Amino acid sequence: MSIEIVIADITQLNTDAIVNAANPSLLGGGGVDGAIHRAAGPELMEACRALPQVRLGVRCPTGEARITPGFRLPARYIIHAVGPVWHGGTHDEPTLLAGCYRHSMTLAIKHGVDSIAFPAISCGVYGYPPELAAPVALRSLRDAQRPGAPLHVVLCCFGEAMAAIWQNALNDAA
Ligand code: APR
Repeated sequence: MSIEIVIADITQLNTDAIVNAANPSLLGGGGVDGAIHRAAGPELMEACRALPQVRLGVRCPTGEARITPGFRLPARYIIHAVGPVWHGGTHDEPTLLAGCYRHSMTLAIKHGVDSIAFPAISCGVYGYPPELAAPVALRSLRDAQRPGAPLHVVLCCFGEAMAAIWQNALNDAA
């Protein structure tokens, strides 16, 4: 598995799948969620609404992921992962964040995805310190490595500062 860090708008990437940093409703929002819904078009909202609710207002519990087509995106699939809101690190945040990457990779394997791009899940509105999120993500990605797993993983950062943090974490994990 190769891991590459890029600075890009994830909606522009032509990996087989891109991951969305969603909320449990899966009905869109701001940040990368908003960008993906805008770029994918209205069919995405229809597909998300059609996903079953596990409880009222929740289509994807925190720490899990769901998959839809990419519709108007270059990517074939969108994997919607719901990261934890940061509450200081004592509310299972690392375990839940690791779950986002693990469940996303499981869905990728199930759907024959060879290349997948992740945004910095939870590192925006949800307030997860990126210096703490990056090592958790990288460990989870390495633990997900098995036959059939995506050969190419892109960590898509939305700016230089974030890319530097993720590159440092990648260097430390080497
Ligand atoms: N491409 C790549 N990365 C992006 C893009 C984009 N087009 N837009 C934003 N980002 C980056 C942010 O800069 C941040 O580093 O994605 C990372 C995750 O930030 P958020 O999108 O705020 O996601 P998160 O922190 O997980 O919060 C999720 O925000 O948008 C709502 O509906 C969403 O309620 C959910 C919450």
